[in-house]
Amino acid sequence: MKKLPQTINIMLKVWRQQGSESKGRFEDIPVKSVSVHMSFIELLDTVNEQLTIEGRDPIAFDNDCREGICGMCGAVVDGRAHGPEKATTLCQLHMRKFSDGDTIVVEPFRARAFKLVKDLVVDRSALDKIIQAGGYISVNTGGAPDANALPISQEMADKAMDAAACIGCGACVAACPSASAMLFVSAKISQLALLPQGRPEAAKRAGGMVRAMDSCGFGNCSNHRECENTCPKEISIVNIARMNREFFKARFVSEA
Ligand code: SF4
Ligand code: FES
Repeated sequence: MKKLPQTINIMLKVWRQQGSESKGRFEDIPVKSVSVHMSFIELLDTVNEQLTIEGRDPIAFDNDCREGICGMCGAVVDGRAHGPEKATTLCQLHMRKFSDGDTIVVEPFRARAFKLVKDLVVDRSALDKIIQAGGYISVNTGGAPDANALPISQEMADKAMDAAACIGCGACVAACPSASAMLFVSAKISQLALLPQGRPEAAKRAGGMVRAMDSCGFGNCSNHRECENTCPKEISIVNIARMNREFFKARFVSEA
C-alpha cells in the first residue's frame, strides 16, 4: 500500500485588509513542512508564529471551540465557505485534504451584512440582531414539568433537534449568491416552532425575525441551494419552507 506523505509544502494565498475602509489584496505566503494532521486553524496559528518571528503582521481570523460547535471560525477556502470538505467547519478541516504543492486561496466571508473587520474577520453581529428580534421563548413556563407531562412525538423532537444543530456560523450567507440568511433564520424559527413550548409566540417570532433579517441587509432566497450544500451542520432548506409558512401565518394573524 502506498504510504501517504506526513508533511506537505503549500502556498497560502490569503486575503489581507486592515479594515473595511482600506484596500485589500491577496498575499502569497509559502508554508513548508505542514503536518497533514493539523487542522486549518492550526495551520493559521503556525503561519502566524512564522509571521510574528519575522516581525510581520499576523493574519486576523476568528475561532474559539475548535471542535465544530461554537460557530466562530469561518473563511472561504478555495471558493467554498469552511473549505472543501462537506459538513465540516474550518476548525475541523484537516490538511490531509490538500496535496503537496497546492496553492490554497483563503478569503473572508463576503456579504453586505457582514462588514469586514480585518483580514479574515467579519462582523457577524447582524445574526445576533435577528435572534434578539425573537429567537427565544419569553412565556413563563413555570418550573420544570414532569418528563412525560408534555408528550412530543419522536418525529417532531428529531426535526427540532436537526434545526437546533445550526451553530450560527454564517457560512450559508457567504455561500448564497444573494447573501441571504434564510437558512440560518429558518433553522432558528423551526427549532422553536416545532415544539409546544415555542408555539404561543411562533407568529410574533417569525414576523420579528424576518423583519430584522431584511433590515440588516441580507438578501432573499433565490433557490440556488448553495446554503444547504455549504452548511457544516447540513441544515435542510425544508426549514425555509417552514419559515415562510410561519411568516405568512404571522401576517394573517396581524391583519386579522
Ligand atoms: S444554517 Fe448552517 S451555515 Fe447557516 S449559520 Fe447555521 S450552521 Fe452555519
Ligand atoms: S472554532 Fe468553534 S466551530 Fe470552529
